[in-house]
Amino acid sequence: MKIIKARDYSDMSRKAANIISAQIIMKPNCVLGLATGSTPIGTYAQLVEWYQKGDLDFSEVTTVNLDEYKGLDRENEQSYYYFMNDKLFRRVNISLERTFLPDGMEPDSDKACRDYNRVIAEAGGVDLQLLGLGHNGHIGFNEPGMAFEAETHCVNLTESTMKANQRFFSSMEDVPRQAYTMGIKTIMQAKKILVVVSGADKAAIVKEAFFGPITPQVQASVLQLHNDVTVVADEAALSEIG
Ligand code: GLP
Repeated sequence: MKIIKARDYSDMSRKAANIISAQIIMKPNCVLGLATGSTPIGTYAQLVEWYQKGDLDFSEVTTVNLDEYKGLDRENEQSYYYFMNDKLFRRVNISLERTFLPDGMEPDSDKACRDYNRVIAEAGGVDLQLLGLGHNGHIGFNEPGMAFEAETHCVNLTESTMKANQRFFSSMEDVPRQAYTMGIKTIMQAKKILVVVSGADKAAIVKEAFFGPITPQVQASVLQLHNDVTVVADEAALSEIG
């Protein structure tokens, strides 16, 4: 695991965007695994800026996102599709038919997950997977205790994740209780993994996940077993590491 120290959030975003753009330049028809959450927003903004300057071409890129809320449609401003479209897809020359997220409006969980596993397999697997890190160590929506063997599955969100998400919804009742997420097995099959982390509030979980024991209680700890992981974190997020 390679840990790259960034000065602050914007430095983290630029470094992460550099790694993603190198991937696109090296393999223009690559499959990017993408993530939502507040951490990667600056990374997407940087990629958009370089695209606007003519330095990046997304025309052959395929994207598969980690997760989507069950029950939210694409027009819902809190859906992850809406987020991705808003932050990246509509701002670059990516072909929308090559952007994939689990289908939040598919009520049959087994079907939604099966279909998404097929999408990833047919795309040829993920070349570079971008990840954020939840405060409890979750990646995607893989919550503490989840089996590492899981592929895409439907999860009941924990109380803490729902609380963390509440700020985006008008009331707690509106926060979706379930989501479809790539599983740890799916994530670990990505050829390369890039984790972005920012802020002092993530310092304790960074230490636990990347320097503590590998355990399903801290889902991100499994990344220690992957042979090509780069963590780009700012000084605040690395402040508990000696
Ligand atoms: C959500 C997403 C995760 C993300 C996490 C952390 O739960 N499903 O993929 O990593 O939030 O979000 P943030 O970057 O806002 O801390």
